[in-house]
Amino acid sequence: MTDLPRSGPIRRRVAEQQTYAFVAIAETRARLAAEGRTVLDFTVGEPREETPEFIRDATARSIPVRTSYPPTNGTPELRQSIAGWAERRFGVSLDPDRDLLATLGSKEAIYSLASVVVEPGSRDLVLVPDPAYPVYRTGAEMAGAEVRTLPLIEDRAFLPDLESLGADTLGRTALLWVNYPNNPTGASAPAEFFARAAELARGHGFWLASDEAYIDLFDRVPSPSALEHGLSNVISIHSLSKRSAMAGFRSGFLAGDPRLVDALRTIRPSQGVAAPHFVQSAAALAWDDDEHAVRMRHLYRRKRELLRHALEARGAHVAPSDAGFFLYFRPPGEEPVDECLARLQDLGILLIPGDRFGESGRGWIRMALVPTLEECEQAARILEREL
Ligand SMILES: Cc1ncc(COP(=O)(O)O)c(C=O)c1O
Repeated sequence: MTDLPRSGPIRRRVAEQQTYAFVAIAETRARLAAEGRTVLDFTVGEPREETPEFIRDATARSIPVRTSYPPTNGTPELRQSIAGWAERRFGVSLDPDRDLLATLGSKEAIYSLASVVVEPGSRDLVLVPDPAYPVYRTGAEMAGAEVRTLPLIEDRAFLPDLESLGADTLGRTALLWVNYPNNPTGASAPAEFFARAAELARGHGFWLASDEAYIDLFDRVPSPSALEHGLSNVISIHSLSKRSAMAGFRSGFLAGDPRLVDALRTIRPSQGVAAPHFVQSAAALAWDDDEHAVRMRHLYRRKRELLRHALEARGAHVAPSDAGFFLYFRPPGEEPVDECLARLQDLGILLIPGDRFGESGRGWIRMALVPTLEECEQAARILEREL
């Protein structure tokens, strides 16, 4: 056997990253499918609804004969549509040339934000919720930040305890991440929570980063945005992946404090994160149209009601949720999570343990409401019988 040449360096932080939990799930799914079993997969939060036809048609029509490099910041048409949506949805007036930028989905913007704001040695702390979407932490760690977790527990309605943060901590904080409607707990936050978080950010000189990827999937009461409390020290991040079932298009935006938007406008062209022109045209149509968003919202509400009912009928404790697309529950009768998951897997229902999203998720199970309505009905029947 010949020796391989000496490896070049790979940053320790990369080597330390956990293998993405979803790899193991994909293996289980493949095994069950190979055995010819029905698989009802509630694990990965990837929407499987159809992208509305008018958006698909318009995309196909807008593929040009010759392509050019698309604008990283977003076409004027797209930025105008986004500003229109923010005005209709939140009554917030955004200047499309100053206050917002298009993004390539929201994940890349979430990942890279810390690298733009963390200052080693002074502002080097990033506060992330626990449990949480893992990219807040990964982005912060790769930016060399120290990460501190803020537990989301049921007794506090899955809101971080902002009042427990001392002046020393806040004085070192570069970024505070919040995410409502929340992944994975399904919780919503009241307007006062955002107001207080923004006030702390202004008072202590850090950025409040509000991940609002699920904001349009509310049941009845429109979920509030951090943007409603002024743009200063606030950045909010949005996505068409869930609202418009456009995950594969990779389209989102960020909006907020023009000082931070300006810094991002400077650095982002070097990151290669411009969405293709035809995606930007489709995205403009999607933000302009509210009708399909209403349909999408009703669909998730139906799934949420159906599955909540099934879980509660068997005595599971389901966390309150009126928005987003997750149910978060404790197994009935204090059954250990692993045993409950294994039992459900045998019935063809795949779910993910809450502790995959952080220590505070221990004892909970996350259900992403992504299978079709028919599949959710099928799962509800199984759960009502056998959970
Ligand atoms: C909380 C949260 N934020 C952001 C994203 C990223 O979505 P996208 O990159 O498709 O916009 C996800 C995806 O699952 C998510 O759960």
